[in-house]
Amino acid sequence: MRILLTGSAGFIGFHTSKALLERGDTVIGFDNFNGYYDPKLKRRRNEILEKYENFTCVKGDLKDKDALKKVFEKMMEGSKKEDTRVCHLAAQAGVRHSIDHPEEFISDNIGGTQNILDLCKDFDTGGLIYASSSSVYGDTKQSPFHEELNTDHQVSLYGMSKKANELQASVYHNLFGLHTTGLRFFTVYGPWGRPDMALYLFANWISKEEPMQIFGQGKMRRDFTFIDDIVAGILASIDKNYPNEVFNLGGDKTEELMDYVATVEKSLGKKGEKEFLPMQQGDVVQTSANVDKARKMLGYDPKTHISEGIPKFIEWYKEYHKI
Ligand SMILES: NC(=O)c1ccc[n+]([C@@H]2O[C@H](COP(=O)([O-])OP(=O)(O)OC[C@H]3O[C@@H](n4cnc5c(N)ncnc54)[C@H](O)[C@@H]3O)[C@@H](O)[C@H]2O)c1
Repeated sequence: MRILLTGSAGFIGFHTSKALLERGDTVIGFDNFNGYYDPKLKRRRNEILEKYENFTCVKGDLKDKDALKKVFEKMMEGSKKEDTRVCHLAAQAGVRHSIDHPEEFISDNIGGTQNILDLCKDFDTGGLIYASSSSVYGDTKQSPFHEELNTDHQVSLYGMSKKANELQASVYHNLFGLHTTGLRFFTVYGPWGRPDMALYLFANWISKEEPMQIFGQGKMRRDFTFIDDIVAGILASIDKNYPNEVFNLGGDKTEELMDYVATVEKSLGKKGEKEFLPMQQGDVVQTSANVDKARKMLGYDPKTHISEGIPKFIEWYKEYHKI
C-alpha cells in the first residue's frame, strides 16, 4: 500500500508511520515541523523514520495546497486506487492552546483538512483515515461516550474543529463517494509523547523537583490510551477502509487523575509536590470511551493498562533526557 501520512513527525504520526513501514507499506510523510512544541523532538522522530528505505518525508504546510498537490501526485504515481490511502493526522492540537490561538484551529484544522479532502477527490484516492478526538463529545453528561451521542455542544475551538472535520469528511463521502474514517482518540500517551500533555509535564515537574500543576483540583477522570493500541486501531481502519464511519479509540478504562499521577511517581521512584488548581477553560471533568463499535468492526482490542504503559513512557523519557 502507498500511504500519504500527514503529521508524520508528530507523536501519533511517527508511531503509525513506523508500524506501516515495518509491515512493508510505502509511506510519504508530510509535516511542517512547527514550533508548537520543541521541533527537535519532531526531527528526532523523523530521523528514525528516514532510516527506512520505503519512507520519504516532505516538509510542507497543509495550508499550502500546491505543496500538498505535489505530494498527492507522488503518492498516486503508478499506483492503483485501491492500494492508496491518506492518513491525515496533522493538526494543531491542544484544547488549552485553542483558547488563545483560535485562528490556527480554523486555518490548519478546518482549512487544512479541506485541502486534503479536495485533493483526495481530485486524485481519486482509495480512502481517507483522519484524526478526530474525544473532545467532540464536549461536556456531555452521558457516560461512557458512544459514537451515537449528540456532539453538537462544543466547549473548545479544538473540539469544534474536529467536529467540523467529521462533517467535512461526511459531505465528501455523500457528494463524491470518498471513503472516510474518523478516529476519535482518547488521551494518547507513550514513548516519544507530546511535551505539552499531562504525562510529560508531570514527569518534568517531578524530575526537576518543581510543583506539579494539577487542574480540576485533581478530580478529573480520563480514558487514557497507550500508543500501541491506537496504532493498531489506525492500521485496522486503513485496511478495512469503510465507506463513512467514525470510531472511538480509547483505553476502555477510565482512570482517576490522581491514580495516574501516583503511577508516574512510582515509575520515577520520586514523589512530586502538588499544586491543586481549578478546572481550566475548555477542559472536561471526565472522558470515557465505549469502544464496542471499534471492537466489532475493526477488531480493536486495547491491551495496555497505565500500570504497564506509564513505565514504558518513563523508560523512554529517562533515556531521551539522559536522566
Ligand atoms: N495525542 C492525543 O491524545 C490526541 C487525542 C485526540 C486527538 N488527537 C489528534 O491526533 C492527531 C495527532 O496528534 P499528536 O498527538 O500526534 O500531535 P502532534 O502535535 O505530535 O502531531 C501533529 C503533527 O502535525 C504537524 N502539523 C500541525 N499543523 C500542520 C500543518 N498546518 N501542516 C503540516 N503539518 C502540521 C505538527 O508539526 C506535528 O508534527 C492530531 O490530529 C490530534 O488533534 C490526538
